[in-house]
Formats: sequence, structure tokens, C-alpha cells
Amino acid sequence: MEIRCVYALSFSPTGVTEQAVQRIAAALAGKLGLPCRTLPWTLPGQRQQVQSFAPTDLVVVGSPTYAGKLPNKLLPDFQAKLRGSGTPAVAVVTFGNRSFDNALAELWAVLETDGFCLAGGGAFAAEHAFAPALASGRPDAQDLAQMDNFAQRLAQKLQAGESTLPPIRPVGDPDAPYYVPRGLDGQPAKFLKAKPKTDSERCTGCGLCARLCPMGSIDPANPAEVPGTCIKCHSCVRRCPQGAKYFDDPAFLSHVEMLKQNFARPAENAVFL
Ligand SMILES: Cc1cc2nc3c(=O)[nH]c(=O)nc-3n(C[C@H](O)[C@H](O)[C@H](O)COP(=O)(O)O)c2cc1C
Ligand code: SF4
Ligand code: SF4
Repeated sequence: MEIRCVYALSFSPTGVTEQAVQRIAAALAGKLGLPCRTLPWTLPGQRQQVQSFAPTDLVVVGSPTYAGKLPNKLLPDFQAKLRGSGTPAVAVVTFGNRSFDNALAELWAVLETDGFCLAGGGAFAAEHAFAPALASGRPDAQDLAQMDNFAQRLAQKLQAGESTLPPIRPVGDPDAPYYVPRGLDGQPAKFLKAKPKTDSERCTGCGLCARLCPMGSIDPANPAEVPGTCIKCHSCVRRCPQGAKYFDDPAFLSHVEMLKQNFARPAENAVFL
């Protein structure tokens, strides 16, 4: 069926997944000569309604890798709030220089169950939300060129239609357990309950962090309080204009140091189509 519009949809607390998805969707739309629309899907209100797509849509769906998979608190939304009807889709994950492990395979499988027909998928290294030193500055010019090349090959396949081979499934097991974060001592680092702290000298009470928390967990009346679930996405840390938000949990900081020591090499992107 003829595609009429390309959509870019991503969960992206610190913005790099959105950047990758928009780049790929725009390149696809350019190659196919179609309009491109962005559907914001990071904030709780944006994920409330079910998004239904027609067979004539092409949807690029993105998520960051969290603990080697899709963010576990977002999985129910990926499963229940996206509906395809044989809609062609492209799965995109970003990862912060360690590994995307099973995240792309999981996103691919979830989208298939949601009624999408996968044309391809890609995993792209991106600056780690925990530490800008990991995959620093990525996606860089080379990554963007690889995204464009991926989009070009996808567009060629989509234009060729049914005469092409089915896409190669991404590596990984959608049902694999989550990656266990470790500290500098090699032991599991337990920071599930950690929440960001607020430097009261710096915080102006502007409320931006509360408005941008993808879990709606920060109290807008007192942004130093985080009564809801914290998924450690670092949106509040990265987006606070005063640099007032930070994590000081020792197990969390030890994990970040372990990552910096062991995953400094530039990770490679991977595409499947
Ligand atoms: C809670 C959490 C867990 C993460 N787990 C992994 C991981 O297992 N492997 C990896 O390479 N990067 C991991 N990352 C890094 C993210 O995948 C990376 O920061 C991502 O590109 C952020 O996307 P965003 O800017 O769209 O929020 C993790 C980041 C967070 C916040
Ligand atoms: S964004 Fe920063 S300055 Fe604004 S309320 Fe939140 S912590 Fe305070
Ligand atoms: S409070 Fe937690 S979930 Fe909310 S933005 Fe900050 S790190 Fe993310």
C-alpha cells in the first residue's frame, strides 16, 4: 500500500533518542517525497491516548536502552498505547556506549504485537544520560551520516515493495532479563530507590523539572520533593537551567564510575533491514 506520511515518535527524557528518530524520519520522508510529522511521546499527558496508525503511515518509533531493554516503566505504554494496522514501522533505540543488549529486539517484538510491520531497526550510540563522558557528543557527524544511510536503504526497500526480502531481525532476546548494574567493586549496585536531590541555593522554584519529568513524579508545588517513582532518566538533572538537580546515591555514583572505567571505547551502531 502506498505510504502517505512519515511519523517520528519517541520516548526521550534527555532528547537524544528524539534527535535520532527525527533525523531518520526526516531523511526517510525526504527520500520518499512525503511529509514528516513529530508526535511527542515523552510526558505522561502525551502518552495518555492510544495512537492509532493507518496502513498508509510509516512510523519511526524510538526508545533509549535502560538496563539492556526498554525502560521497564514504559513497557506498558509501548504495549497498550500504540496501535498499527499492518502499518510499516522502523524501530530505533539509543544506548549510552555500554550496549543495547536486548532493547532493539524487545522494541521490534512489541511493535509487531501492536500490529506494526517492521521494515528495519537500528541501535545508535548516544551521550549517556548518567555521564556526558560516555559517548560524549554523540550522535556526531559520523553517526548522523549512518542514520541517513540507514534511512536511504530503508526507503529503497520500501519503494521496491514486495519484491524485497523480509528484514533481518535484530540481535537479542526480547524476553531476556534486565542488565544488572554493577559498582566499582564488581558487585550489583542497588540504586532502584535513589531519587535526585536539589541544591536549594541554586533552585529558583521555576518548576521546569516538574513539568518535564516523564513520570510526573516531581511535586510542582515543591520541586525538591519527588513523591512519585523515579526512573533515573536524568531529564531533571540535564534540563534544570540552574544545574540544581543531582544524584548523590553512593551505589549509583559507583555504577557511573564503573561505566566510565570500562566503557570508554566508542561503541558501534548497528542496523538491521
Ligand atoms: C536508567 C538508565 C539506564 C540505562 N541503561 C543503559 C544500558 O543498559 N546500556 C547503555 O549502553 N546505555 C544505557 N543508558 C544510557 C541511555 O540509553 C542513553 O542515555 C540514552 O541515549 C538516553 O536517551 P534520551 O536522551 O532519549 O533520554 C541508560 C540510561 C538510563 C537513564
Ligand atoms: S528546574 Fe531547577 S531551578 Fe527550576 S524548579 Fe527544578 S530544580 Fe529548581
Ligand atoms: S525525578 Fe527521576 S524520573 Fe523524574 S525527571 Fe528526575 S530522574 Fe527522571
